[in-house]
Amino acid sequence: MEDVDSSIFSAAVWVLFVFCPATAAALRYVTAPYGRHGRAGWGFFLSPALGWFLMESPGIWVTLLLLPYGRHRRHPISVVVISAYLLHYFNRSVVYPLRLLKNGGKGKKENLPVSVAAMAFGFNVLNAYVQTRSATQYVEYEGLGWRAWARVAAGLGLFGWGMWVNVAADAALLRLKREAGGGYRVPKGGWFELVACPNYMGEAAEWLGWAVAAGSPAAFGFFLGTCANLFPRALDHRRWYVEKFGPSFPPSRRAVIPFIL
Ligand SMILES: NC(=O)c1ccc[n+]([C@@H]2O[C@H](COP(=O)([O-])OP(=O)(O)OC[C@H]3O[C@@H](n4cnc5c(N)ncnc54)[C@H](OP(=O)(O)O)[C@@H]3O)[C@@H](O)[C@H]2O)c1
Repeated sequence: MEDVDSSIFSAAVWVLFVFCPATAAALRYVTAPYGRHGRAGWGFFLSPALGWFLMESPGIWVTLLLLPYGRHRRHPISVVVISAYLLHYFNRSVVYPLRLLKNGGKGKKENLPVSVAAMAFGFNVLNAYVQTRSATQYVEYEGLGWRAWARVAAGLGLFGWGMWVNVAADAALLRLKREAGGGYRVPKGGWFELVACPNYMGEAAEWLGWAVAAGSPAAFGFFLGTCANLFPRALDHRRWYVEKFGPSFPPSRRAVIPFIL
């Protein structure tokens, strides 16, 4: 039985790594059709609040369902790593949708295709399985000393900073949308002066920090998958800002990594 479980786990980690270049290549040519890039031809639409709740919720329920079966579930490193994962998904699948709903009703506008939500749901089921089994069952914690704890502390520090930037930037964008009566404006201030998408920058930093803390190939694969997903979209957002706002969008402002990308 353990052999079957470990074979399924290894195959799932491979799928995660294959997903990265495939996603980056696909998104290079096709802009993910939700939000401001939403368009006909992708089937039925959902309200973003319901969509984000449904598609991100596996990060919570798959994780909690698998947790009791991990032999290392009570190891302190496993506990902090899984807690950080759950914290992120509580924000993304509960707090963020509530903010969309509260956003003066603007979050209720249906601009998220069911097909996109279904793909994200599938990815989140796979990823929650891989990350939970990795952290609670397959990573070896035996004999780890203060160096491992220093790595975990540094990783969690970066995770916390990234999450703070991500949540603050999401909140600023929703405020901007409310102020613009459901339309769009050029965001200003803080990290927005350097990049078009500080929420994506923060999210990438979060998962880099989490991968350092978790110390597993699976977690590193998820960080790469996040970049493969968000970096092409950040480039699409930046292009959209330039087309829509012309010179009002500062040309020196990059997409997602200050001064670089
Ligand atoms: N880990 C991953 O792979 C992954 C993948 C996707 C998203 N996420 C995270 O999920 C969150 C939401 O993602 P997203 O792609 O929806 O982010 P987004 O495109 O930045 O949009 C966030 C919200 O702000 C609004 N908005 C953005 N820019 C605006 C502007 N200039 N003026 C007025 N309103 C503006 C958007 O409206 P519209 O909807 O009308 O554009 C949307 O309601 C982010 O924190 C992101 O990091 C993570």
